[in-house]
Amino acid sequence: MLQSKISLKANIGKYEFNNVMLNAAGIRCATTDELTKVLNSEAGGCVTKSATPEPREGNESPRMKATPLGCINSMGLPNHGLDYYLKFAEENQGKDGKQVLLSIAGLTVDQNLEMLHKIQESSFNGLVELNLSCPNIKGESQIAYDFEAVRDILTKTFKFFTKDLGIKLPPYFDLHQFDQIADVLNDFPIAYVNSINSIGNGLIVNPETESVVIKPKGGFGGLGGDYVKPTALANVRALRLRLKPEIAIIGTGGIKSGRDVFEHVLCGANVVQIGTAFGFEDVKIFSRISKELSEIMAEKGYSSLDDFRGKLKTL
Ligand code: SIN
Repeated sequence: MLQSKISLKANIGKYEFNNVMLNAAGIRCATTDELTKVLNSEAGGCVTKSATPEPREGNESPRMKATPLGCINSMGLPNHGLDYYLKFAEENQGKDGKQVLLSIAGLTVDQNLEMLHKIQESSFNGLVELNLSCPNIKGESQIAYDFEAVRDILTKTFKFFTKDLGIKLPPYFDLHQFDQIADVLNDFPIAYVNSINSIGNGLIVNPETESVVIKPKGGFGGLGGDYVKPTALANVRALRLRLKPEIAIIGTGGIKSGRDVFEHVLCGANVVQIGTAFGFEDVKIFSRISKELSEIMAEKGYSSLDDFRGKLKTL
């Protein structure tokens, strides 16, 4: 297969992506300069930093630490507030064929509903990503581990929200959890799920200083990078096997090469997001991985992602 004949295009419902890769919310996407840089790269679009109704400073520093296998963070949702990201999204969605995914993460159900009302009333006409999985807010649980709370917020949301909504999920670890979250999500007109957020409340220890490596929450924080890829693949696969076909999947977790994207798509991802490795490498990662993925597809004789999406074999 000639590499020039290979397409890395993808879609979520009616939204078309020229490239299957996006940044993950939180990484190099907090300012309009950073977001514009992603839009001007080979990525298929950008995701905005998860917004709260008002600007937030986030947790105290140091709140992120890179390690040879990835990173740990407890950022605590530092962001410029919904109005800032909504304006950017309204101005840039669909421009030059690029998608802008608007991510929101209220600290309470009411905050989420307030932001969804504002988005409903706005001129933004792209995908909204409701983040129910931030592990770094002191004193708050990750909503998506409480299945009835997810049902409750979605019931309230779809009473008024008519735009296209995705849900950012945390990793699940038990097969019953996959069944339970899928049972809830399948009852709603959701456009996609994004699986996974970081593995919450990990701990990295520095044996030399005999200390934790980040300050908030006594050192506990979300893990990303190599630590999380098998868990991410398992979540994409398990959800693809359980969710109704109209719900697309964004695969996020441990992607740093063409092979990693290939594996996520094989497990069922429609689109992928890159977090930790994008943080390390910046926008050139999208062209490097596009080339690596195209080479793998050429070797295997695949011309589009549809040729192998979800076709993981079992033994
Ligand atoms: C953070 O700002 O703490 C990270 C956001 C997230 O994990 O959802």
